[in-house]
Amino acid sequence: MILCQITDLHIRPPGSLAYGRVDTNGFFDNAVTELARQTPAPDVYLLTGDLTDSGRADEYAVLAGGIARLGKPAYLLPGNHDDRAAMRLAFPAARYLQSDSPYLQYRVDLGGLALIALDTVVARQAHGVLDSERLAWLRAHLDTTTPTVIAMHHPPFATGIAHMDEVGLLEGGAELESLLRRHHNIERIVCGHLHRSIQARFANTFASTCPSPAHQITLALDPQARSSYRMEPPGYHLHVWHDGRLVTHGGVFGEFAGPYPFRDPGPT
Ligand SMILES: [Fe+2]
Repeated sequence: MILCQITDLHIRPPGSLAYGRVDTNGFFDNAVTELARQTPAPDVYLLTGDLTDSGRADEYAVLAGGIARLGKPAYLLPGNHDDRAAMRLAFPAARYLQSDSPYLQYRVDLGGLALIALDTVVARQAHGVLDSERLAWLRAHLDTTTPTVIAMHHPPFATGIAHMDEVGLLEGGAELESLLRRHHNIERIVCGHLHRSIQARFANTFASTCPSPAHQITLALDPQARSSYRMEPPGYHLHVWHDGRLVTHGGVFGEFAGPYPFRDPGPT
């Protein structure tokens, strides 16, 4: 079972650029085109937030069109740029999004692997939280045996990119870690928000963030570094569930020379 994670798409109203510069809709279109022709095709997609740049209906309509082209189940969770009500309206057939809860949290079965999505969003704020209500929901939906992937937009660990940590998960990370220390069946915590690939040990598992299919946050570990982005290669993660182990591959979108066989082509 191949779970493809894409994150931080920042889809814009058609015809506009993010920050006046980044054609996020064009990058999303490229990502969909490449993913749709992969063999073997991913079985399921997981989109870990900042699906849109401003939570508008016309942005979610672009997202819905891309997901339809992928032709596989897609599970969405909100990031700080999203709007829960607009997401619910844009995806009325996504039963996992339709609940009485103010939060978009759900547990689904991916065929031997459970996916638990946590909603870390604070409306109109860049940072995230896991308050007692959301953690209580998680406690009630965890078991101790099913291999489980937890997805959340804001990673539960400080990354060392200071300006992003200032708008990271500011509440509930320690409580989440102590809860997960009592579990040995959490295969991974997969996150977005950072627009680049970062890994850390967390409780008894690994936590990771995934690149964006558009712009990446600059790798800047100087605590004084200002917030900025770079047009590094856009990317995604493939989490492959095979033989009782989840193996994560980082992929990049774009045209590159090759593939070439590992042999000398000889004189021509
Ligand atoms: Fe983002």
